[in-house]
Amino acid sequence: MKNYTSINDIEDINTWIQEAKEIKVNPIANIELGKNKTLGLLFFNSSLRTRLSTQKAALNLGMNPIVMNVSGDAWGIEFEDGSVMNGNTAEHIKEAAAVVSQYCDVIAVRAFPTLTDKEKDESEHVLKSFVKFASVPILSMESATGHPLQGLTDAITISENSSKKKPKVVLSWAPHVKALPHAVANSFAQAMQKMDVEFVIANPEGYNLNPEITKDVPIFHSQEVAFKDADFIYTKNWSSYEEYGKILQTASDWKITKDKIGTAKFMHCLPVRRNVVVEDAVLDSNSSLVIEQSNNRTYAAQLVLKKILDDL
Ligand code: CP
Repeated sequence: MKNYTSINDIEDINTWIQEAKEIKVNPIANIELGKNKTLGLLFFNSSLRTRLSTQKAALNLGMNPIVMNVSGDAWGIEFEDGSVMNGNTAEHIKEAAAVVSQYCDVIAVRAFPTLTDKEKDESEHVLKSFVKFASVPILSMESATGHPLQGLTDAITISENSSKKKPKVVLSWAPHVKALPHAVANSFAQAMQKMDVEFVIANPEGYNLNPEITKDVPIFHSQEVAFKDADFIYTKNWSSYEEYGKILQTASDWKITKDKIGTAKFMHCLPVRRNVVVEDAVLDSNSSLVIEQSNNRTYAAQLVLKKILDDL
């Protein structure tokens, strides 16, 4: 595999899930594969899970991870071609990506959307610039429109926790105090469309995700209807896609409660705001899979890094 920037880079998700489960049984089986190989992790945004689990995955493969907080510690990077750099940016992506490629065998990038410029966000200008100007493979650690490591993680977690051949999975919008990206919800929706599950989405009016991603997935504007007979309820806030990046309504009655989820398993990518998105009674119960999801971040990242290393 050359790059991993989207759930669409997964050819057969069931095979990938099986491979990840095998890695989980013996995480250091391929400790020699990444020997003398360096993974550079570049963060334009904050992270706890991605930052640590991707380093852990690299270490399990014998790689040397090096980390940089690009926004705080590096020179401001310019992404526009032909720009006159007399403002706040001091280094062009053409040089930055080429330079980092000399130090690293694989580059992982986290770069969130603006949520103000839809066209720019959908062009994935940061991630795609690294793909274009780096000479080594690029791994997305969440970009403007996708979080493919999280989506793969969630597919693994559902497979591990499902007792049914075809479980019902619901992606539910939930309230939040800030306008949040669509990346996690997009990648989860894409992953579920590759799996043998009954998949539906629940969100208030005005919060439909990009129809090019949801395609013909049923969308309900009622949690009560969508949650009926659900086995997994994956919760995430996202800002409006139609009125791009806006919070249209706080819809606090969309908070996830124990009563609403019934016997379903609760999932969330974390971090999660307790008692805004979901009540304590859910997170503190056996219904919650959030800690297992975070654990599986390591094995998802390790599977992707292994596939990249296999083709170096
Ligand atoms: N789920 C996730 O990506 O967590 P972090 O933002 O902490 O990395």
